[in-house]
Amino acid sequence: MEPLQLDQNVYWVGARDPDLEVFDLAMPLQHGTTYNAYLVQDEQPALIDTVRLPFWEHLERRIRAVLDPANIRYVVVNHHEMDHCGSLLRVLDLAPQAEVIIARPAEPFLRNTFHADINFRKAGDGDTVSLGRSTLEFHLAPFLHWPDTMFTYVRPNGILCPCDAFASHYSTETLVYDVFDPDMEAHARYYYDCIMRPYRSRVAKGAAKAAKLDINILAPSHGPIYRDQPRHFVEKYLEWTADEPRDKKLIVVVLASVWDSTRRMAGEIAAGMNHDEVEVHTYDLPFAPDADFVSDLARDLEAADGIVLGAPVMVGAVAKPMWDCLLTLANLDIRGKQAAIFGSYGWQSKGLGLLEQIAAHLGLKVAQPALSAQFVPDAEAATECREFGRSFAAAVAGES
Ligand code: FEO
Repeated sequence: MEPLQLDQNVYWVGARDPDLEVFDLAMPLQHGTTYNAYLVQDEQPALIDTVRLPFWEHLERRIRAVLDPANIRYVVVNHHEMDHCGSLLRVLDLAPQAEVIIARPAEPFLRNTFHADINFRKAGDGDTVSLGRSTLEFHLAPFLHWPDTMFTYVRPNGILCPCDAFASHYSTETLVYDVFDPDMEAHARYYYDCIMRPYRSRVAKGAAKAAKLDINILAPSHGPIYRDQPRHFVEKYLEWTADEPRDKKLIVVVLASVWDSTRRMAGEIAAGMNHDEVEVHTYDLPFAPDADFVSDLARDLEAADGIVLGAPVMVGAVAKPMWDCLLTLANLDIRGKQAAIFGSYGWQSKGLGLLEQIAAHLGLKVAQPALSAQFVPDAEAATECREFGRSFAAAVAGES
């Protein structure tokens, strides 16, 4: 349990969790993760973040290998999720004179997490704390990944500790990369898609802020630390959060179908969307889509100007793949987009009303009444579907 020296007076003192299979009860992992914490050894030593509580002993041993924890003067909490602040009270037991530094919005998080009398100060954007040779500079980065998140930049070392941003859930023995590994890009992208994407516009602002800093070492809170190409993932975040330029409006039709009726409706609706200024992408949901399918769908849904959801009514609700799609939508920046709902039914159609309500709850503007067809759509239903598609495309194109 040796600490890793990142720079003359800065050490990684975190913990590896290579066996973690699911993060946040939401993100399946193949390579575990790490909880990165950093110790700045100086006249006034500072600890930047802690680790999940079950890994407290790893943190303690690594800190003790560098200095007596009683000498820690500051503990920076970049973000209050338990994977980073879980050991805070244990640290303060050993360093009772330490002052905790949090971002301004984090005060209720600190109080309602620990219910303890903690000596803390709130950092504003650009505030600094001198440690002696090094200075900590704080940059508020709301929603990367919670409203409380801030980056800590260590001067003059040029070490950026951006907490969850630019991270990967990936546990390796190496941890500190002196030669950039391009294979890490897929892991960083998967992490971005799962953790950062719901806050895409905020993430773009945070990445732009990081891009203004002179970064020698990128030291996020999970996975590899980059001494080689430390700006790579900052630039990737700028790219991933940018809008793709498009000549046409994009409508994404997402459907689930059991006996082909909703699939036929989707085909007719898409045919009705034939419009010079509109491009249509259709996704036919399998029962268990793979990660690439979900990633492509999420990217298109985020880029879409209009979203059309279709599913057959089942047991008063809709087929399961559409529920999974709604969960994907809940994790995307899609508020305010125009939407429409359709589907087939057997003896009652009220499940489509539920789909409409959820779409509205997610912030979609459901612009026209849901279209339903009982059992198998006939020629008349097909005509209604084409008209449904035509009017939706016209609305997305701004004609009505
Ligand atoms: Fe790694 Fe949002 O916690």
